Amino acid sequence: MMNFGHYGGGYGMRGRGYRNNIDDDQTPSHYDSQIIKRMIKYFIPYRYLIIVSILAMFFYTGVTIATPWWIGKIIEKHINSSSAEGFPVALLILIVLGIMHFIGNYAYIRVIARISTKVLLSIRINLFKHMHKLSQSFFDQNEVGRLISRLVHDIEQLREFLSIFVITLGDLISLFGILTIMFIMNVQLALLSIITIPIWIIIITLWQRHARKAFYRTRVTTANVNAQLNENISGIRLIQSLNREKPNARMFGNTNYSNLESHLTATRFQAALMPGVEILNSISISLIIFIGGLTILNGNTNFTIGELIAFLLYTYRLYEPIRQLSMQYGFLQRAMVAGQRVFKILDTDPKIEFRKTNSHFIYSKGDIEFKNVNFHYTNTDLVLTDINLQIKHGETIAIVGPTGGGKTSLVSVLTRLYDVTSGEITIDGKNIKTFSQQDIAKNITMIPQDPFIFSNTILENIRYGKTDATQEEVEKVCKLIGIHNFILKLPSGYNHFIQEGGVSLSVGERQLICLARALITNSNIVILDEATSNIDSSTEESISHTLNQIFSKKTVIIIAHRLSTAKNADKINVIENSKITETGTHDTLIKQKGTYYNLWENKAKSTER
Ligand SMILES: Nc1ncnc2c1ncn2[C@@H]1O[C@H](COP(=O)(O)OP(=O)(O)OP(=O)(O)O)[C@@H](O)[C@H]1O
Ligand SMILES: [Mg+2]
Repeated sequence: MMNFGHYGGGYGMRGRGYRNNIDDDQTPSHYDSQIIKRMIKYFIPYRYLIIVSILAMFFYTGVTIATPWWIGKIIEKHINSSSAEGFPVALLILIVLGIMHFIGNYAYIRVIARISTKVLLSIRINLFKHMHKLSQSFFDQNEVGRLISRLVHDIEQLREFLSIFVITLGDLISLFGILTIMFIMNVQLALLSIITIPIWIIIITLWQRHARKAFYRTRVTTANVNAQLNENISGIRLIQSLNREKPNARMFGNTNYSNLESHLTATRFQAALMPGVEILNSISISLIIFIGGLTILNGNTNFTIGELIAFLLYTYRLYEPIRQLSMQYGFLQRAMVAGQRVFKILDTDPKIEFRKTNSHFIYSKGDIEFKNVNFHYTNTDLVLTDINLQIKHGETIAIVGPTGGGKTSLVSVLTRLYDVTSGEITIDGKNIKTFSQQDIAKNITMIPQDPFIFSNTILENIRYGKTDATQEEVEKVCKLIGIHNFILKLPSGYNHFIQEGGVSLSVGERQLICLARALITNSNIVILDEATSNIDSSTEESISHTLNQIFSKKTVIIIAHRLSTAKNADKINVIENSKITETGTHDTLIKQKGTYYNLWENKAKSTER
């Protein structure tokens, strides 16, 4: 079964004056425990790998702590006491420690990368699935480029977040280990080495306040760039034909410029951090050399030169995790924002019920009724007002009327792309709100107003909604509507690959392919929204006989501007300004001398008929 109008061409161009999209939130907080909790759920399947990574981390931390201690010992035993005995072995042990450090670190990072990539994959798949369930109004309000930005960049940021989160955890553990051993060795010097940490915490807290906004700006401006890129690429033909290259380039330049500025601001914040740590580190080191040196010079035998050197090395190591934590802070910040956005989409209510309902709507007969239906889109006036309409199964009705009258909206609510604001629609006597959208999609075939071609072969495009259709079935349908020969003339026939949007085909050809795609599904209700509007009158005439035959036992709703298409319907409804104003057969409506009559007369004058 086809999916409906939301695949319409030019979809990137949507977007109205109002918007309630996923970017409109305030600057998010830098830490959100909800996000961490939700992320943890994604990690649960990999708990064994996580245990492996934690073991690797402890190993690595142990080696990190042992190395300076061993260097201190070597200096003490061999240099300070001028003893060469066992010196080569001691050095060899140092090299082995280095190798072990490498192995621990390598194993840890590899396992973490494995876990985070897998978690990333499942989040992205979830997001993709969820997006398919979201209502049309969500897509009306969120530009395609922005959504792609969510699916690509935000998830990438989340992956970074995952790696950083665990690496940070490793850093914290080694920080803790280093501090412990320092306090065991010499409490006074250990205090000296951490004396600058409170200063650092104050600086970081102040820094955060400003940096958070800067990082948030980078996300928003990047999404803007993507949204604009998407619109410009999908609308390129129109842009070129309207000679809009220069103004668009100017607009894109501006958007890019604010993106650049926001990144530069964020970088300014990030760049200040590292040197800050260096300064504080130097202060600690100087203090330790000064006090430790004095202690040794004063002949205190409790503290040796080897221990002083080990201490200095520890102080360097101590600042390494701090430097890492500060450096990662920017990433962590961005990732939090990304996480908030991703989960915000995952939390968006599909609005239109997607889950399987209890009803057994397997195969509908095709009786449709609209009872006092009113409908408006988000923030618009009513586009359907008090619609009452009965369509018996097997009937063909036509809907005609001026542009913007509400014809497409009428079938959009019937297919539950949107839900009615009030009143009800029934199929076979049951309110369609008790059916899932999937159930409805199984029973209604719709050919949307803007024919959409997927980037795939002709064959796959036609059997898009019924993947088990055979090549013979596809060819049969194509012969019926007269495009078989056209398809055979294409370089690879039915296997000819069409680029996204089908720009290499004429609009009429695209419509015929959409028609074939609809005909191959075998539902009892068929909706044709201007489905043959771009097909020339004589081709339309020649396929109308076939269509009448196929449709004779089905409930068919034809929306048409071209009145010759509508003329033979069992009933014609005129929709104007959101209301049904006339109903009847062609002959009765002509006699009424109302809107239909006028439309018909105008057509007659323009020799359309
Ligand atoms: N997604 C949307 N969000 C908000 N308003 C919409 C949306 N789609 C349509 N409208 C508005 O609803 C009204 C009816 O539109 P609809 O597409 O039903 O008209 P139509 O009769 O099918 O017109 P046409 O003959 O041009 O296809 C129009 O005023 C239109 O601007
Ligand atoms: Mg329409």
